[in-house]
Amino acid sequence: MINIEIGNNFRGDIEIILITDFKKIPKKEAEICALQGFSGKSGEFIFLQNTKKFYFALKDSSIDCIRESGALIVRILKKFNIKSASIKGFNDSQKNYALILGILAGEYEFNTYKQKSNKISLKNIYIIESSNKFVNELKKVKVVANSLNLVREIVNTPPEDCTPIKLSSIATKIAKEVGLECNIGDLKFIIKEKMQALLAVSKASPNEPRIIELSYKPKKPKARVVLVGKGLTYDSGGLSLKPADYMTTMKADKGGGCAVLGIMKCIAELKPNIEVLGIIGAVENMIGGNAYKPDDILASREGISIEVKNTDAEGRLVLADCLSYAQDLKPDYIIDLATLTGACVVALGEFSSGIMGYNEKLKREFEQIALNCGELMALLPFNRHLEKLIESKNADVSNVSSSRYGGAITAGLFLGKFIRDKYKDKWIHLDIAGPAFVEKEWDINPYGASGAGVRSVVDFILNLEDKAK
Ligand code: BES
Ligand code: ZN
Ligand code: ZN
Repeated sequence: MINIEIGNNFRGDIEIILITDFKKIPKKEAEICALQGFSGKSGEFIFLQNTKKFYFALKDSSIDCIRESGALIVRILKKFNIKSASIKGFNDSQKNYALILGILAGEYEFNTYKQKSNKISLKNIYIIESSNKFVNELKKVKVVANSLNLVREIVNTPPEDCTPIKLSSIATKIAKEVGLECNIGDLKFIIKEKMQALLAVSKASPNEPRIIELSYKPKKPKARVVLVGKGLTYDSGGLSLKPADYMTTMKADKGGGCAVLGIMKCIAELKPNIEVLGIIGAVENMIGGNAYKPDDILASREGISIEVKNTDAEGRLVLADCLSYAQDLKPDYIIDLATLTGACVVALGEFSSGIMGYNEKLKREFEQIALNCGELMALLPFNRHLEKLIESKNADVSNVSSSRYGGAITAGLFLGKFIRDKYKDKWIHLDIAGPAFVEKEWDINPYGASGAGVRSVVDFILNLEDKAK
């Protein structure tokens, strides 16, 4: 990752100057700019060789725009092989935070498998800022960006190199580095726990499933948050096989599980006085003679029977058993993250995650926190009519809806069946199917996995600590 330092003076090869108003460029330089066709239109940039200045035109000075510009600028600097640069801070913690996040997260590229990787020459960016109020924020932004890039790297890793067992080793290694407790539940454990819905999904895969359990336990915590992540290391659809075009990128179906890992890493480094436990259901959904089938009826850990009508609606089966396990840990809050439905992407577009649950206030609070940290999220409302659509003639519940509409919500309602009354108001479901994998770069996200969900959930947990103070 690029090294960011705060200092009083200009250092490095070039000076980056962000402008929202062309008229603010000194007259002589403005003339050169104009000669070279730079008009100050949003996103335009120009290098002035003799003064070593790099002008970048911002659309406006909103936080969103600053964050995105940080990412754009760093991509340009990489292309031009710049080694170091200075940029004037905003004397505003939130804006500086957004700029640095953009720089650090915008720089990431998945090139681990390329023979000729674009080795980056960009090493240092100096933020010129006289106030020293920014020390804590600087630590946080580095932790969060680092975690985002790590989550992206894991999610981008091809399915053969990131099976449930390999994901367990990755989690074990990260946990050790940051001082988290990590327990891996193997096949024997999963059978003992009667997670038969999860086991059905994994049946046809030669790669055994794992339950990855991470714990951060401060001495006298103010609250306990349990996170649950969908960790489908590959989703072929199972016997309800996905068409070829829909199967590519399904390595990213572990996005929710990996986000949980990234959140846990941030929490271990930021050390809030909140207990946080992370449960990842790491499973591969494959085909084979021993695959689970449409028409099967599964006995879930919670005791609720599930009629399988489509083996591609596997995430909710894995989550049903993980949510059951998570409630035994007596959480004050329970949040699941999952690339759960294509329908969520249809409903909200590829840039937003869906927030679902039974507690209106909690959902709104979460949405606000998400929007504040730059993650787009929107509420998808449950209703009793949609709930009827997952009734089954043969079992307690069906794993798919009888209607083709409202699929993100009916998936959320399915999960809701596995939340005990006592925990209904403590639960939030995040469908991150849209933003978890990026086809064409946007905001601070390069092509590939984005690390969706990490920023919001980290801020939600940090916010709980502030509330308790
Ligand atoms: N992993 C997919 C959902 C998904 C789709 C994530 C596109 C990211 C991008 C999930 O397991 C799935 O296949 N869902 C089905 C459910 C359907 C069978 C009811 C879907 O969305 O089509
Ligand atoms: Zn699926
Ligand atoms: Zn899936």
